[in-house]
Amino acid sequence: MDKFRIQGPSRLQGIVRASGAKNAALPALAACLLTGDEVTLSNLPRVQDLRTLRRLLAHLGVESSGDGETLTLSARGEGSLDDAPYEMVKTMRASVLVLGPMLARRGRARVSLPGGCAIGVRPIDQHLLGLEALGATVRLDHGYVNAEAARLRGTRFRFATPTVTGTENVMMAATLAEGTTRLENCAREPEVADLARLLNAMGARIAGAGTDTLEIEGVSALHGARHSVIGDRIEGGTYLIGAAISRGDVTLAGAAATDLAPLLEKLAECGCTVDVGAQGIRVARSGALRPRDVITAPHPGFPTDLQAQYMALMTQAEGMATLHETVFENRFQHVPELMRMGADVRAEGGTARVYGPSALSGAAVMATDLRASACLVLAGLVAAGSTEIDRIYHLDRGYEAMETKLAALGARVERLTGAGTPVPVEH
Ligand code: EPZ
Repeated sequence: MDKFRIQGPSRLQGIVRASGAKNAALPALAACLLTGDEVTLSNLPRVQDLRTLRRLLAHLGVESSGDGETLTLSARGEGSLDDAPYEMVKTMRASVLVLGPMLARRGRARVSLPGGCAIGVRPIDQHLLGLEALGATVRLDHGYVNAEAARLRGTRFRFATPTVTGTENVMMAATLAEGTTRLENCAREPEVADLARLLNAMGARIAGAGTDTLEIEGVSALHGARHSVIGDRIEGGTYLIGAAISRGDVTLAGAAATDLAPLLEKLAECGCTVDVGAQGIRVARSGALRPRDVITAPHPGFPTDLQAQYMALMTQAEGMATLHETVFENRFQHVPELMRMGADVRAEGGTARVYGPSALSGAAVMATDLRASACLVLAGLVAAGSTEIDRIYHLDRGYEAMETKLAALGARVERLTGAGTPVPVEH
């Protein structure tokens, strides 16, 4: 298994371009199941999760071609058509996003339940209740969801919690329902709105994207389209926190400042310079870092996917900061690893108190999930000496060529193969 080795401390400086958003690209790929026409998607991130979903889509009969950043997909092929097996779904929960589109277009779908996850239980009850409200019969057996409906019917459904992929799954299904659907308490994440943009380009009639209420007038069929996915605010936010933690100066191109508003507000409060200009979003820090509390929440609240990275930052603040994780029940697994590097963090339940500033020292640490690994990379940037982060396959799931982007910003980082051989950084 590959590792990262980071020599600290270093200062990040320069311009970095955000890749396309993983969490916008995944539902966009699934949406191609809604039509037999070609759908061309561009600005896709070259990350493991996209490759995993592409393999599942191929299994479902989807032909795809392209260089990975741009893909042309068409779901007219004759695969097993309506069965997403456990072997494929277990590696990536977002595979559940094929459920709504398959059910809507093919009238039936058999999708493995995603199973457990490091950061929380993560049930999909709201996905299933939403599809049942659209008139589907849903049966769980042998670890699979079996859903059937001759034709879905428009309805009114209120999510018990604003779930991102739940909103996306039910929204996709409702595009081909008979009649109009009103979805309430929806997720407002920019990635949900980006998916609605794609679906409308395919001929859907969705109003209210980005708000907590969606009105979807069903149509009998969707057609092909071209769509460029939005930039990745979480990947981009990680590099901006890198500027803040390392007393650096970084400009992020390719991501929208509005999508990153909760983070930018917080960084400004902490004493960073935050500018939005023609080249992108600039974050710099030279002076002391003030501790500021955060409470994670669905968008437009502070994103849970930046909580771990923000915790690394708060280890360098002058005083105590409290982080409340309200979205997932088990998302502090980076804490013991940060403490191995000398951080002073006390976590209990969904609350962590971070005492700073701590003089971090390089150590061998282990990544436990995607964003926890990004947190350890940021800590490694400011730690004295060498940090080795094991299991970075977690990082590769959602960060495109992180070592290359970091090296271009002045970091001393290298990827090591399982045997410890450095992998040359491509510039
Ligand atoms: C999406 O996951 C993202 N993944 C996650 O990003 C992100 O952390 C999360 O939204 C929250 O922003 C993708 O978009 C592929 P949720 P999702 O359903 O949709 C509960 C990353 O690092 N819930 O919005 O699975 C659930 O348990 C990943 O890139 C139910 O109770 O998250 C959680 O507590 C990690 N029943 C809360 O809602 C349901 O049916 C929010 O989960 C669905 C969710």
